[in-house]
Amino acid sequence: MLENLPAQPADALLALIKMHADDPRADKIDLGVGVYRTGDGATPVFKAIKGAEARLVAEQDSKSYLGPEGDSRFVEALQTYIFDGESMTDGRIAGMQTPGGTGAVRLALGLAKKAGVTKVYLGVPSWPNHAQIIADLELETVTFNHAREDGTADLDAALNAIREAGERGAVLLHGCCHNPTGIDYTADEWSAIAAAFAESPALPVLDIAYQGLGQGMEEDVAGVRTVLRAVPQALVAYSCDKNFGLYRDRVGAFYMMAKSGDTLEAIASNANALARANWSMPPDHGGAAVRVVLEDEGLTAEWLDELETMRERMRGVRERLAAADAEVTGLGLAALAGQNGLFAMLPLTSEQIARLRDDHGIYMAGSGRINVAGLHDGNIPKFIAALADVTQG
Ligand code: LMR
Repeated sequence: MLENLPAQPADALLALIKMHADDPRADKIDLGVGVYRTGDGATPVFKAIKGAEARLVAEQDSKSYLGPEGDSRFVEALQTYIFDGESMTDGRIAGMQTPGGTGAVRLALGLAKKAGVTKVYLGVPSWPNHAQIIADLELETVTFNHAREDGTADLDAALNAIREAGERGAVLLHGCCHNPTGIDYTADEWSAIAAAFAESPALPVLDIAYQGLGQGMEEDVAGVRTVLRAVPQALVAYSCDKNFGLYRDRVGAFYMMAKSGDTLEAIASNANALARANWSMPPDHGGAAVRVVLEDEGLTAEWLDELETMRERMRGVRERLAAADAEVTGLGLAALAGQNGLFAMLPLTSEQIARLRDDHGIYMAGSGRINVAGLHDGNIPKFIAALADVTQG
């Protein structure tokens, strides 16, 4: 029986971690998987999280089961950073903790399927795992263009998708810091998206995986809030893996906004049943640490400071790359300054990407996506020179 399984290729992004680790060159550069790095190339645990973990060790008196919804205080504390205004108080939102943002996306699309959704509209390029999750759920993927060649978002494509999706369609949008392009919708574009959703039966599924790493905590969720204010119902997937640096602890949340409070309990019971069948209960530790941070003013301030430092460092890297626009022709580096988050896409050929890896020890996704946080004062000149090398002649 098991011998019938055809071998699957390794996940290309995760395979890069190993390829980079196996490269003996001291000056190699890892621009692959999306983890934040300091100017020294490290991915330290947030100080605020260390503080919260110390408290947890001292004070946690049980590790008994919590249930499929996880730590409800974590879910409630986080909710205030996502939803606003009336939607927070009219009893139409339920949330639950998930294993990372991936668990939240899985739950969102699984629940959408249970509710009758048959196809998911996905702006491409997107995080590769979006398409994998949709396919694994045996839903149809309908792609639309996310970005134009000039580095702006393709609003018309998104609006057409929302209008076309119909009542059996869900439209999956990135809340901020688009992965892999770094190209987010502007405030005006979000307003147009919200208006289109308001007139469409399509279900909005909003994936927020990088809040606070673009322009700021409030700024990065403003577009999502515009949509949430305009629509009767929506699903939100959230990751704390990046903005709390909890990657391997797998911390995420999933929120359901229902048309009315009357239907919320039934909707949430379906999400609970799905969680139970998938992973039973989410891992607790990381969510508990986030909860301790968010319930303590001092730790919250420390966390927000740390986030600001990360954001500013990445902004600085983007500006350095943009300033090198004239040195590397044809890659449109100037546009990087106006983009957000960890990622940018460089229009490199697969041959150029292979040369960067083989000749220069520079590792990036096969799509040409770079993690800008992998760059710092010490390696930016090498990166720019290598780009100039592989793109000339
Ligand atoms: C990424 O896109 O690099 C991250 O979201 C990590 C992942 O799970 O793919």
